[in-house]
Amino acid sequence: MKILIVGSGGREHALGWKLKQSPLVTELISAPGNPGLAALGRTVAIKADDARELAAFALREQIGLVVIGPEAAAAAGLADALSKVGVPCFGPSQAAAELESSKAFMKDFCARHGVPTAEYRVFDDAVRAKAYLGDREPPFVIKADGLAAGKGVVIAATRREADEAIDQILFLRKFGTAGQRIVIEDFMPGEEASFFALCDGETAIPLAAAQDHKRAYDGDKGPNTGGMGAYSPAPIFTDEVREQTMARIIAPTLAGMKAEGRPFVGVLFAGLMITPEGPRLIEFNVRFGDPECQTLMRRLNSDLMPILLAAAKGELAAASALEWDARPAVTVVYAAQGYPDEPLTGSVIRGLGEAAGVEGVEVFHAGTKQDEDGLLRAAGGRVLNITATGDTLKQAVARAYAAVDRIDWPGGFCRRDIAWRALG
Ligand code: AMP
Ligand code: GLY
Repeated sequence: MKILIVGSGGREHALGWKLKQSPLVTELISAPGNPGLAALGRTVAIKADDARELAAFALREQIGLVVIGPEAAAAAGLADALSKVGVPCFGPSQAAAELESSKAFMKDFCARHGVPTAEYRVFDDAVRAKAYLGDREPPFVIKADGLAAGKGVVIAATRREADEAIDQILFLRKFGTAGQRIVIEDFMPGEEASFFALCDGETAIPLAAAQDHKRAYDGDKGPNTGGMGAYSPAPIFTDEVREQTMARIIAPTLAGMKAEGRPFVGVLFAGLMITPEGPRLIEFNVRFGDPECQTLMRRLNSDLMPILLAAAKGELAAASALEWDARPAVTVVYAAQGYPDEPLTGSVIRGLGEAAGVEGVEVFHAGTKQDEDGLLRAAGGRVLNITATGDTLKQAVARAYAAVDRIDWPGGFCRRDIAWRALG
């Protein structure tokens, strides 16, 4: 079967790397792909959010399954366009993608279906929003409603900071139309975990959990990013927490989305706060986490292809359980200097072959480009993902950093403390 992977990051390279190992996959094509995906198969220059072009391409090429990587492709209606031409797709419809693309929709949905999450209110008026803060306790959590590449959240310690954030989003339109509305919610203390479930509209199958590091610098300091590293399993995510998450968060969400005429197909990614009262939802994403996905793919023993196809076809109830490697895996994100604010692109990267030679290591491309001169250069913020498995988390981390040290890239930086919480 021919597979089309949509996207161009490390998440998509990891999915491609895993799918390529399936005896059921005859050809792997990616759009637009990256140099890592190009080593696995053909790439086509169609943007991930160009739903019409992608659907026409998939039909013409007789693609057996399209796998959607980024939320932008889902929010642009790619699954809907593919459904019209009859090509199976692993990824949510535009209406289902609203769980991620509108935080106001997500919060109202959780309220309707009893999914545990922080108390909140939605505002489009700054005066009312500021007045509401008077009734709440700091810290205040202020979020732009729409997609803002993970940057639309402000945690304000004081009223003044919160007022400023409200003005920045609603008046100054710091996040453009994503900030036409804001959500203000209560702060939840606790430790975070990322949990993933494969869904076919009706049935959900739990995947493993992971923990991510969102801040740019060591010690969880510096600006928020898309994620600087991840590890799995997540020690905080016990079997009990998994059962609670499936029963209280994933199951009611799947049933609610179906009842509201937006059945959810694809990966439901729950960003969770693990509190003494159990898991609470911070946010939903409608895709695999990046870099969590890279970490999970290194631990999945089962063939990924049949389970994604079963999800796309509404056949998960009959699918067999997934098998995971009990050993831990870790991902270190190697980013361009200046990330996340102004990453410097164009610098030359050498030594990937040497890095991949370290035992247990796979290097995924996230934001690279192959130049006409044959040199590999940085072409984005998060540029490389160095993943490693090991008998212990400590060994996996040591291997990942041994590989990092073999990469010759003065234009990059990475955190040196990935998985510190779990290493104790
Ligand atoms: P989000 O984009 O909604 O995941 O928010 C980004 C980050 O802000 C999360 O990963 C949390 O670290 C933090 N955060 C968001 N909402 C809350 C909340 N209600 N309480 C505590 N932390 C939060
Ligand atoms: N690493 C978090 C995310 O993908 O949103």
